[in-house]
Amino acid sequence: MADAQPAKAAPVQLVPVTRQNYVQVFDLEVAPEQKQFVADTAFSLVQAAYEPNWEPRAIVANGNVVGFLMGGIIEPGVYEISRLLVDRAYQGKGYGRAGLTLFLEQLDKRPDVEIVKTSYIPSNLHAQEFYGAFGFINTEERWQDEIVMARTPHRRGA
Ligand SMILES: CC(C)(COP(=O)(O)OP(=O)(O)OC[C@H]1O[C@@H](n2cnc3c(N)ncnc32)[C@H](O)[C@@H]1OP(=O)(O)O)[C@@H](O)C(=O)NCCC(=O)NCCS
Repeated sequence: MADAQPAKAAPVQLVPVTRQNYVQVFDLEVAPEQKQFVADTAFSLVQAAYEPNWEPRAIVANGNVVGFLMGGIIEPGVYEISRLLVDRAYQGKGYGRAGLTLFLEQLDKRPDVEIVKTSYIPSNLHAQEFYGAFGFINTEERWQDEIVMARTPHRRGA
């Protein structure tokens, strides 16, 4: 059976952060009231530079960097999606959903990924629903004060 398609499928690419696009990534900004939900891209890029397990990706649509996503293996078999944001000017156009769809499709193919986790602060009411639509479920686990959600990869033919 074909996988369910996202309700709003915006065409996006996930590209590594490079010398050519890092300034656009740095410039990405969420709305002021969303800043508590996600670290800014500058910090994330520094983190990725010094903690090489992190894989930062620009979400690109129509040639523009519209968002950012970062994840990495945090222990054997466990992949954390630690950052996902779409610039405030581009939100609500399906880019966040499309970027995460693509990213999860890539993770589904990786034999080193047995479970994907993410976390959200409880006041981010939107997050649980957003990730829930991708098959993430709440766990009892907490990272600092954040609620951890987990998703098992959807293996083709499994
Ligand atoms: C969460 C986020 C990445 C979604 O990206 P986006 O491109 O705006 O979202 P999409 O257009 O793909 O829409 C995905 C769903 O989220 C909903 N949504 C998008 N922005 C929203 C907002 N600010 N508040 C409430 N719902 C929102 C949409 O209605 C849509 O649901 P639907 O298809 O059922 O209608 C973006 O809002 C963001 O950067 N938020 C701040 C950072 C953050 O909270 N990151 C943690 C991950 S949840």
